[in-house]
Order: sequence, then C-alpha cells, then structure tokens
Amino acid sequence: MNTDLKPRHDRAMQTLQVHGQEHLLTFFNDLDDTAAGALLDEIEARDWAHLQRLIETYVLKRPEAHVPEHPEPAPCYPVAPTPDRVEKYTRARALGEQLLREGKVAAFVVAGGQGTRLGFDGPKGAYPATPVNGKPLFQVFADYLLKIAEKYGKPVPWYVMTSGLNHQPTVDFFKQHNHFGLNPDDVMFFTQGTMPSIGYDGRVLLAERGMLALNPDGHGGSLRALHVSGALEDMTRRGVEQISYFQVDNPNVKCIDPLFLGLHALDGAQMSSKMVLKTGPHEKVGNFAEVDGRIVVIEYSDLPDALAEAKQPDGTLKFNAGSIAIHAISRAFVEQLNAGGFSLPFHRADKKVAHIDLSTGQRIEPTEPNAVKLEAFVFDALPLAEKSIVLQTDRVEEFAPIKNATGVDSAETSRRLQSERAARWLEAKGVTIPRCKDGMVDAHIELSHRTAVEADDLDNLELPDRIEPGSERVL
Ligand code: UTP
Repeated sequence: MNTDLKPRHDRAMQTLQVHGQEHLLTFFNDLDDTAAGALLDEIEARDWAHLQRLIETYVLKRPEAHVPEHPEPAPCYPVAPTPDRVEKYTRARALGEQLLREGKVAAFVVAGGQGTRLGFDGPKGAYPATPVNGKPLFQVFADYLLKIAEKYGKPVPWYVMTSGLNHQPTVDFFKQHNHFGLNPDDVMFFTQGTMPSIGYDGRVLLAERGMLALNPDGHGGSLRALHVSGALEDMTRRGVEQISYFQVDNPNVKCIDPLFLGLHALDGAQMSSKMVLKTGPHEKVGNFAEVDGRIVVIEYSDLPDALAEAKQPDGTLKFNAGSIAIHAISRAFVEQLNAGGFSLPFHRADKKVAHIDLSTGQRIEPTEPNAVKLEAFVFDALPLAEKSIVLQTDRVEEFAPIKNATGVDSAETSRRLQSERAARWLEAKGVTIPRCKDGMVDAHIELSHRTAVEADDLDNLELPDRIEPGSERVL
C-alpha cells in the first residue's frame, strides 16, 4: 500500500467498521494508487451514519406504506375552463406568455435515470422516438424550445440533469448533433447525486474491486442537484423565475405550457402539477390527493383498494387524478428548500445489481433481484409547498411515455400516440384523417415541434387536404 494513503485507509476502515461496511476495502491492496485514492474519496464523501439508518429502515426491514389517514381528492383545474373561469384562463395564458417574453422561464428535463426497462444502449434521450423520422427524444424537446423561442422572441434556457453514469454520453450526443440548433450557451448539463446500491444483507455492493455500486438518487434528487450544481444560481443570473419540469421519456409533453405556467404563477403556487384522468382504479400512476390542505401524490402501490375503488356520487372514481410527472416549480421554492436543509423520503426498489463477489473477486451478473436501490421522488416535494395547483390535461395531448421495450408504454405505443395527436391537430384545421376501426389514426404522422407546438400554430400554413390511409407523412 502507498504509505501516503495509509492514514486515509485506516481512518476509512475505522468508519466503515462502525457501520458494518469494512468489506468495501477487501481489495484495497490490489488497487493502483489512482484507483485506491478514488475509492477513499468516495468513502470519505459519504455520510455512513445516515446510510446505516436508511439501510435499517428500507433494506433490512420492508418499510410500511405511509398512507395519510383521510385523503381527499385534490382540487384540479379542468382542461377547458368552466364558464366562471374563462377569464382566469385567459389571464393565466397571457401571464405565461409574458413570462416567456421576459425570459423568466427555464425548461428542466430529468434525464439521469438508468432506463433499465427500455434496455437501450445509451442515454434515454438519444432514443429514436418519433413515428416517421425516428428523431431522438432530446431533439423533440429542442425543436419545442426553438419554436417557443420563435413565438415569444426569447430563448428558453434548458437545464438537462444527467447522472454520473450517462453524463458524458449525453453531452457528447448534444455536441454530435450541434445541440439540435440551440445555442450551446443556453443548454446546461449537470449531474445528480448517487446512492450506494445495497445487498439484501445490508452491505453496500462493489461494482468493481475499487468502486462502490452506485445508482442515481431518483428524480427527487433533482431538487438538491439544481442547487449543488450551480444551476439555480445560473437561473438567477438569467432572471429565471419559473422552472418547467418534465421527464426525458415523454415526447408528447408540452415542455413549456403558457397556460399551466400562468395558472401556477397567478395563484402564487410554489410547485404545481399536471394530471390526466385515470383509465381505471388501479392504473399504475401516482394519485393526487389533498391532505391537511396540501397536495400530495400517493403511489398506486400504496393506495388501499377501498380508496382506489371509491366512487363519487356521479359514479366516477373519487381519486381519478393520475400524475404524469409534469411540474411547474418556482425557482424561489427550490432555493428555499435547499436553504432549509430539506430531505425527501426514499423509496425502495428491488433490482438486479451486478457486483464483485467478495470471496473470489469475480463479477456476478444476477438473474434475480439481489439488491435495493434507494430513490427519492420529486412529487414528494409537493406537500412542502404551501400552495400547489393541479391542472388536468388530455392524455393524448400530453402523455406518450416510452418506458418499456415492448407492450404498454413502449416506443410502439408512443409512436401511435404521437401520430394520433398530430392527426387531431390537423383534423381541427380541416385535414381529412384516415381512421382505423378502433378510432385511432390509420397513418404515421410526424408533426415536428418546429412546425407546431399547439394546433393553432398550424393556422396560415399550407396543409394537405387529406392524409392517405397507411401512409407516412412528415410536416
Ligand atoms: P423512471 O422512473 O421511468 O426510471 O424515470 P428510469 O431510470 O428512466 O427507467 P427504469 O425504471 O430504469 O426502467 C422517470 C424519469 O426520471 C428520470 C428518468 O431519466 C426519467 O426521465 N430519472 C429517474 C432521473 O433523472 N434520475 C433518477 O435517478 C431516476
């Protein structure tokens, strides 16, 4: 062992022994100085006492679902305003547009996930998503932001959160594609935090002989990462007041929605959300509810059947508002959270994590889940907001997630939904659309966000009279 590293090694060993993690130094003497130093850096940077508490709570025990006792349905703004709210929606949209004209809105995509279900080799944002040209997800959002800049006369700064695992490939992907036409100065990348992956015996796994197995700390980690990375400061410097938060896997998301941002700002909300009506009582989406005057999201797996199936007097589901992970967040709120040393709860996910066998030093690729990843969820910050609004949105208009390689929420279903939304916008402008028996569009239509981010952007454009059945069309 390098004698310079010896005191650090001994101190690390002492700390790890207190917390039952000394196995992490099993291969220390086999490492070269750089790797040994990096391992010590990693160990020294972690709060092992805190991790031990988390392991006892989430790994060695299975945490009980914490369901609030008397949740009520969350109040929601409907898609289209009721007559008494027409004026408010008009004012809200105008305010949202004004914020955009004044450059006070930033786009924020969380792209640090591992995308294990999709199984794509590369950052998920590089996934070819659109129905005809297979444009990557990042380009879909870049096109959107370019159109918004054109409409409102100000570029929208874009913050892209990655994880240590996909940061460089993400940055390289943007460079290879000339930032998709965006000014590179307006695209900021930063990494989120990580958590060690923990074996079922409570011991942190080694990914390599000199490297802890780490996983990104969940999209909830974004609220701290915005602060730690300096992104919040950068926003302040640019005069950004509102953050439009979305996930990397939803090509139909309105990255920037003046109405939503305007309602959120008009009501003085700190963190707001969009919802879609659930397709059934047990749909696998988070449920918006109100508890003690605060908006919360209750995970589908935590919602007792009696509540999931409860009905309103009119026969509709009592808890019918599903979360689609779209939020408007005021910059001041994120600053306030970080100044106050907030913490979000962790959620346990059982996963297959490749690791080094301590007795042989060989790598094991498990075929069954063998470890726990701890992740924070961004919606757990909602109850920390004194004011929070929920806006209903139409599912086809705004939710076409790509989560799985096949089946539900896959690239295939997403492409159909993207075509469907394009068809609806064209239909609204008088274009004849071929339809299948199930009512869905019988064509592959790709409507670039450079052309339109809402149906009315199609006004004054030369549109075809009809789309031919089974055809492919790019507009
Ligand atoms: P998902 O919950 O779908 O997770 O993330 P995932 O990691 O992408 O995919 P699986 O579960 O491994 O298949 C929802 C969104 O949150 C981001 C993802 O990139 C996606 O945009 N996310 C998730 C992060 O940015 N960081 C995380 O630690 C987790």
